[in-house]
Amino acid sequence: SATEKGGYRHFMLKEIHEQPRALAETWQGRVTARDILASSIGPTAEEIFGRVEAIHIVACGTSHHAGLVARYWIEAMSRIPCNVELASEYRYRDPVVPKNCLFVTLSQSGETADTLAALRYAKSREDGYLATLAICNKPETSLTRESDLVMMTRAGPEIGVASTKAFTTQLLCLLLLTGMLDRRPDERAALAANIRGVDTALAAVLELDEAIRKLAEEFVDKQHALFLGRGPMYPIAMEGALKLKEISYLHAEAYAAGELKHGPLALVDENMPVIAIAPNNEWLEKVKSNLQEVRARGGKLYVFADAESGLNTGPGITVLDMPHVDDILAPIAYTVPLQLLAYHVAVAKGTDVDQPRNLAKSVTVE
Ligand code: G6P
Repeated sequence: SATEKGGYRHFMLKEIHEQPRALAETWQGRVTARDILASSIGPTAEEIFGRVEAIHIVACGTSHHAGLVARYWIEAMSRIPCNVELASEYRYRDPVVPKNCLFVTLSQSGETADTLAALRYAKSREDGYLATLAICNKPETSLTRESDLVMMTRAGPEIGVASTKAFTTQLLCLLLLTGMLDRRPDERAALAANIRGVDTALAAVLELDEAIRKLAEEFVDKQHALFLGRGPMYPIAMEGALKLKEISYLHAEAYAAGELKHGPLALVDENMPVIAIAPNNEWLEKVKSNLQEVRARGGKLYVFADAESGLNTGPGITVLDMPHVDDILAPIAYTVPLQLLAYHVAVAKGTDVDQPRNLAKSVTVE
């Protein structure tokens, strides 16, 4: 009913708009003015994290994309090697388990069959993991019951099949984990300050809702779309493409922008919209030259860019200015316009936004 949806037309839109509040819930009690507290996820966490020498992250779908972002953060900040894998692949192979390796599962539902089977398989391994951590949105699930440590994402109930607030709160939990594993107090303090600003940053991004609704009209008659990003924005591009596929039934694919020339450039013409994410980070200049490659071939570009990026709307390129956010928060902030884009394209096409065909919220069978 309309009341359940808080006045919004769909649960998905409500859940997109709940993100500032959900993210604030996620960090509260875990981040002080100067630190990120491992003790907030249990009395044994600090001792365990102090011993971690490697990390394996395993998940499915949108949750897997959150894991892919975390690899950039964890390796850059804590210098701990981090592998990220699909649960359905991990569970049927024979991976090397390094010494003192933390096994992390990510799941909104805590009941995804492949993720749960991967956890059970990890625990059964003779070469043993140091400990298991579940980052989960639903309390009292198989995943949380069977893991040594649990970090709840605290997004609240997510009804829309296409995951939104569960994803951004997973990202924030992974950023908290990154901080908990970082042994440098000054870096932890800087990260704590950034995290405490995440809800304000997201609220500013949500102001783009109407501009994105207008932009979405240009996608209604399209069959395909390409999403580009570099660095931690590459998995965000994957998530943007997944959202569009799930609810608007457009064929969408994500590419690391540097890989354009190795194939997808052949697809570029005026019927293939190319969506790029360009925060003002160390990858910006590289992304800009990739955009030139698309323009030179008559492609139509839609770019979500930092207001200071120097990118402007012109022939063949539409730029949507994003409010400036610190680098570390960019994956969380730039997820939001892609959620909104998928949402508005789906509404314009008249698909069943909250219950897309052939998909389930929680996949409890293999
Ligand atoms: C289903 C849902 C996705 C979700 C995936 C993993 O496919 O439709 O939105 O990302 O399962 O679910 P989980 O609950 O483990 O995060």
